[in-house]
Amino acid sequence: MKVAVCSAQAYDREFLLSANRDFAHELVFFDSRLNRETRQIVAGFPAVCVFVNDTLDAAVLETLAGQGTRLIALRCAGFNNVDIQVAANLGLHVVRVPAYSPHSVAEHSVGLILALNRHLPQAYNRVRNGNFALQGLLGFELRGKTVGIIGTGRIGAAVACILHGFGCRLIACDPYRNTECVQLGVEYVPLEKLYAESDIVTLHCPLTPQTHHLIGAEAVGRMKDGVMLINTSRGATIDTWAVVAGLKSGKIGSLGLDVYEQEGDLFFQDLSDQVIQDDVFQRLLTFPNVLITGHQGFFTAEALSSITHTTLHNISAFERDGVCQNEVTLELLQTG
Ligand code: NAI
Repeated sequence: MKVAVCSAQAYDREFLLSANRDFAHELVFFDSRLNRETRQIVAGFPAVCVFVNDTLDAAVLETLAGQGTRLIALRCAGFNNVDIQVAANLGLHVVRVPAYSPHSVAEHSVGLILALNRHLPQAYNRVRNGNFALQGLLGFELRGKTVGIIGTGRIGAAVACILHGFGCRLIACDPYRNTECVQLGVEYVPLEKLYAESDIVTLHCPLTPQTHHLIGAEAVGRMKDGVMLINTSRGATIDTWAVVAGLKSGKIGSLGLDVYEQEGDLFFQDLSDQVIQDDVFQRLLTFPNVLITGHQGFFTAEALSSITHTTLHNISAFERDGVCQNEVTLELLQTG
């Protein structure tokens, strides 16, 4: 099938071209993100392959459908950047990669916890500068601390499994109980209790209308003083201004982010020679107790290999049968 691959980085080309030896699709790579400004570049492609920061809103989808596209293949799990209802109305099929090594994101989340707690970025810089003083680097033991996991799907369960090994007390909130988590001893509690009792709150739910700005001023106010907040899910689950206020007041003791609400203008590109125009993001960077990575939770060799293989498999299944088990249906949209 002729496939336009948007937001293609060097590593996307490398992994997709390698995996495509088994599938033989005609892959055409575009550096650009797909959005209203660029939507013409994929004219005539029956399949369009996109990533997390491509914006497939109603206007873009209408253009795609009019230009002959029939399949949108997401090379990620989340589908909040595609208007699924409009796609369905237009007869466009949307497929995704529902699971590809949840351990990659889970391990990165725990990496953020450890790096923040033991001040590893500061320690790294100090030692390189010949400063071996420990003042300001005091951490705490994870053993016995309470971690609140919001969303215990594949990634949240993998986080629970790792932190269980650290000896943490694990509490969670999710509309569905995960039996793997229950067996680990994870206690499901209402959100209010999770906020009130957690030393660390970590987000692993999808971005839906229900989870948009889930962590706002009210939620922050209910949390423990000095709480550590981790978000590797989607940026807009957090109201960034509310979190900035929490950091300023000391309510939030530390913040680890792999995602950011306005990341579309920043992440996955080298802007090191430019003036960053996003004042909220720049404010976040001024805090010594904030650690931000640029949406790299998924970025392991194992995950990339799995993502590319499932993506090409999804495209082949659609080409062969017109359907795919990894289709994002309207029912999935309701349940998240
Ligand atoms: P999943 O679908 O296996 O699990 C999501 C869980 O969140 C489900 O158990 C669901 O019931 C729960 N949930 C839904 N609404 C909720 C709510 N209002 N409150 C509490 N829980 C709620 O998804 P998976 O694979 O665990 O991924 C989670 C999220 O992680 C994705 O939606 C995506 O946004 C993000 N992600 C981030 C990556 C990164 O590189 N940083 C890579 C992959 C995913």
